Amino acid sequence: MLCDMVLGVIGGSGQLGCAIIQGLVTAKALPAEQIIVANRSGVRGDLPDAVRLVSDINEMVAACDVILLSVPPANATTLRLQADGKLVLSVMAGVTLAQLAKIAGHDRVIRAMSSPAAAERMAYSPFMLDACTQDDGAVAEELFGAIGQTDALTDEAQLDVFTAITGPVPGFVALFADTMIRFAREQGVDDDVAERAVRQLFLAAGNEMGAGGASPAKQVQWMIDYAGTTAAGLEAMKAAGIERVVRDGLAAAVEKSRRIANDT
Ligand SMILES: NC(=O)c1ccc[n+]([C@@H]2O[C@H](COP(=O)([O-])OP(=O)(O)OC[C@H]3O[C@@H](n4cnc5c(N)ncnc54)[C@H](OP(=O)(O)O)[C@@H]3O)[C@@H](O)[C@H]2O)c1
Repeated sequence: MLCDMVLGVIGGSGQLGCAIIQGLVTAKALPAEQIIVANRSGVRGDLPDAVRLVSDINEMVAACDVILLSVPPANATTLRLQADGKLVLSVMAGVTLAQLAKIAGHDRVIRAMSSPAAAERMAYSPFMLDACTQDDGAVAEELFGAIGQTDALTDEAQLDVFTAITGPVPGFVALFADTMIRFAREQGVDDDVAERAVRQLFLAAGNEMGAGGASPAKQVQWMIDYAGTTAAGLEAMKAAGIERVVRDGLAAAVEKSRRIANDT
C-alpha cells in the first residue's frame, strides 16, 4: 500500500513533481511527512510544509521505498541511483524504460506520463511496467489513480502518444480556445467578454466530456445530424482539413517525444 511507504521525488520542487505531490497530499493518498524531495538548489517552491527537502540524492534514496523521477530529460542522463532494487518510477518525457534501468541500476522501473493537472487531481497518467511485479503495478495504479485517471499500457511507444496529447495541460486545447477568442474579437466583441465567454464554454464542455456519456464522435454526429449552425461550422472545418491539421500537429509532438529519447 502506498500509504505505508516513503516516496522520494527527484525534481519534486518543479512544475510537474510539485503538482503530483500536492495532488497526493490533497487526496490523502500519502501524508506529506512521508514524502522527501531532492533538488540541487534547495528552493522549495510550492511544496507542502511537511515535505522534507534534501540536496543529497543518495540520502533521499536510502530513506525511501519508492522513487519518482521528475527532472528535465537532459538532466536525467547523468543520474545514477544507488537504489538497491527499489521501485523507480518516472514521469519524464521521452526517457525510455531501457534508459531508466540504466539510471536505477536495475530493471524494477516504471515509465509513466502525467501532467500538472495532478495538483487538482485531474491528470491522466498512463504507465508502462516492464520487469516489475503485479505489486509494483498496484503501487503505480494507486499513486497515479490518486491524482486523476490512469491506465496500464502494454506498448511503451504509446507513452510518446500521451506525452503529446495529455502531458501538456491545457496544451493543444488552448490553441482552439485562443482561435475562438480571436474570432469573437474580429466580430467586434470586447476582449474581456470574448475571453470570459470562451473560458466558460471550455469549462462547460470539459465538465460534460469528463462526466462520460456520449462519446465525442457521437456528439459531433448529433450536431451534424441536427443540421443547425454548428453543423454548418463543423462541415466547413472538415472541408478545410481540420482533422488532417490536428493529426499532423499531434504527430509532430509524438515525433519530438521520441527524439528526446534518442537525444538523451
Ligand atoms: N511540466 C509539464 O507540463 C510536464 C508534463 C509532462 C511531463 N513533464 C516531464 O516532467 C519532468 C519535469 O518537468 P517540469 O516541467 O516539472 O520541470 P521543472 O519545473 O524545470 O522542474 C525540474 C525540477 O528538477 C530539479 N532538478 C533538475 N535537475 C536536477 C538534478 N540533477 N538533481 C536533482 N534535481 C534536479 C529542479 O530543481 P533544482 O533546479 O533546484 O535542481 C526542479 O525542481 C520533465 O522530464 C518533463 O518532461 C512535464
